[in-house]
Amino acid sequence: MANRRGYDSGLVDLNAGRISREIFVNEEIYREELERLFARAWLFVGHERQIPNPGDFFVSGMGEEAVILCRDRAGKVHVFLNSCRHRGMKVCRYDEGNTPVFTCPYHGWSYRTDGKLVGVPYFREAYHEQLDKSQWGLVEVAQLCLYKGTVWATWDPAAPPFLEYLGDFVRYFDLSLDGWDGSEGGTEILFGVQKWLIPCNWKFPAENFCGDSYHNISHRSVDLVGIGPSGSGRRDMQERLMARRLQISFYDRGHQTGVYLFPKDQPMPPSYQHSPLVAEYFAYCEEERRKRRGEWARVIGSPGEIFPNTALHPRQPRTIAVWHPRGVHQTEVWRWYFVDTAAPAEVKNFLRDYYIRYSGPAGMTEQDDMENWNYAHAASRGTIARRYPYSYEQGLGFETERYEWQGLHIPGTVMDITEAKSSEHNLRNLYRRWAEFMEAESWDDLATWRVARAAE
Ligand code: FES
Ligand SMILES: [Fe+2]
Repeated sequence: MANRRGYDSGLVDLNAGRISREIFVNEEIYREELERLFARAWLFVGHERQIPNPGDFFVSGMGEEAVILCRDRAGKVHVFLNSCRHRGMKVCRYDEGNTPVFTCPYHGWSYRTDGKLVGVPYFREAYHEQLDKSQWGLVEVAQLCLYKGTVWATWDPAAPPFLEYLGDFVRYFDLSLDGWDGSEGGTEILFGVQKWLIPCNWKFPAENFCGDSYHNISHRSVDLVGIGPSGSGRRDMQERLMARRLQISFYDRGHQTGVYLFPKDQPMPPSYQHSPLVAEYFAYCEEERRKRRGEWARVIGSPGEIFPNTALHPRQPRTIAVWHPRGVHQTEVWRWYFVDTAAPAEVKNFLRDYYIRYSGPAGMTEQDDMENWNYAHAASRGTIARRYPYSYEQGLGFETERYEWQGLHIPGTVMDITEAKSSEHNLRNLYRRWAEFMEAESWDDLATWRVARAAE
């Protein structure tokens, strides 16, 4: 691909490990992101459990735009642009609910839950019955995918199917969606969704969740207080002491995650010890998972991202977050919380408390992160500040294409940070893919794995 626009040469220079601040603060680049990323990539929209019955709806977002996730009378799931075809009014102004039709508050056009325009005031008198209603249904996404309860959509008909978009990364995504006992898709969401605004570009939280393992200093106070599920000390200390810590990137897809890889034939460290019932539940799950998953049960997820803006936090707390862009200088965070469907009510309640204490606008850990992103963004906007690139040089050149430890091969390009403590390997991968999306004219340029496969 030629460096036609300069995103993958000047602005994002991964050979040197430098990225221009312009991509975080420049209005024009932001407008292009909406077109080139958010109108073409697969985006997380919600969870099927939010719309269990016909007529149920949940208003979500894709990029800057509001969409309606709903289940029609026949039980089929749809995602529509939340904008009336007549003059663009927001058709649905509730956050969620159940309805036979969406009636536009402005002039009263109404749409069925399958998107069809069915009601037009003065259809006979004013339109002389000449308006072709079949042409004026709600705008629907080009593709939709339901995966283990999660709902994904894209506006681009040429995008590869969602599972192809994920590639082998699906194995890591499953760490967020399967039950802790290894049961396929054995999770559900806790109601409802946390939503809040933060004054920074959406890529600040996105890169943090790709695997910024360097910012421990920010969470020092949390670690001292000891809000970990074990009830004391650092949140993940046990894992750190016995596992390999890996950062895993999928270069051709733009997805990345951290994992803990545990030694062969050793029990997992205990967790939630201060609550015997919860500890017992997880100990039981560990055993079950080993039976079901075999060697793969040695892999436990830590934060990651599905490109471009869906963050995964597979364990303690288990969440999916979306970084919705709200202009170049603002992000709206939406966070969904997951628990095992099969867990006893006491375990779910315990986890709800722990999750809220940890994450979200009032959660102790996430507050630390937001402080950093807010001030980093503000301090990068100035005429002088934006002339100086950020450094992404950490660990450059130390990644490996084929990683194996104690008989288990780990898919993806891996950086072992057990001794190094930290690397910006996964962060670079986010911007590698970002630059490719900003450069590419179509999915023909982006689905590079298809070309590679055809050449084999
Ligand atoms: S804007 Fe919806 S009916 Fe006119
Ligand atoms: Fe953090």
